[in-house]
Amino acid sequence: MSAPEDPKGWDVRQDDPPHLGICVRDMQKEDVSAVHGLEQACFSDAWSERILDEMLGNGMDLCFVLEEEREEKQEKQGEQKRKTVLGYVNIRILGEEAELMRICVLPSARGRGMSRLLLARALTEMGSRGARSATLEVRAGNAPAKQLYQSHGFVLEGVRKNYYRDPVEDAEIYWNRNI
Ligand SMILES: CC(C)(COP(=O)(O)OP(=O)(O)OC[C@H]1O[C@@H](n2cnc3c(N)ncnc32)[C@H](O)[C@@H]1OP(=O)(O)O)[C@@H](O)C(=O)NCCC(=O)NCCS
Repeated sequence: MSAPEDPKGWDVRQDDPPHLGICVRDMQKEDVSAVHGLEQACFSDAWSERILDEMLGNGMDLCFVLEEEREEKQEKQGEQKRKTVLGYVNIRILGEEAELMRICVLPSARGRGMSRLLLARALTEMGSRGARSATLEVRAGNAPAKQLYQSHGFVLEGVRKNYYRDPVEDAEIYWNRNI
């Protein structure tokens, strides 16, 4: 498994089991259950397994998961390699315009640069598939996500008042017009 560039050493914590690597790869049908777990941990309007399953085959959406591999000591089997899906991103490309539909990281894995790896992959895929610009909408109060988007060239271009429910909140519309 190849580890993507990790200049800040985000993926290493001293108290974690031995770290073997991180990869961002295409989401497969077998990942639906893990991604559904991510959805439930990260969003108040979590997508169902059926929606996730349909998304994989609809020809419009592209999904990538971030998977971490660690070596863990087991009572009887000795050392075992364990892979865990820590995050995922979903994008949609329509001609020269792309949309970031979803990005999330498991709460216990946040603040380690994981979302940057996912977003970098998403932007690379958008560009290589012909998109020139990308848009997204985000809750006005979602500071971590807004910081992530701004540091990847997204600029605030509009606001939809009271767009979100549970709780009610404005949506901010961001564009990156230089993919
Ligand atoms: C938004 C989210 C994906 C960020 O994931 P993460 O892996 O913790 O973020 P990273 O560690 O990669 O940090 C990304 C950037 O956000 C910043 N950031 C992280 N946590 C932050 C916080 N609590 N407050 C402000 N900025 C924060 C980092 O400093 C970094 O900024 P930089 O790009 O300028 O260096 C994660 O918080 C999440 O899954 N949230 C719930 C789902 C969600 O809101 N998704 C977005 C809407 S679809």
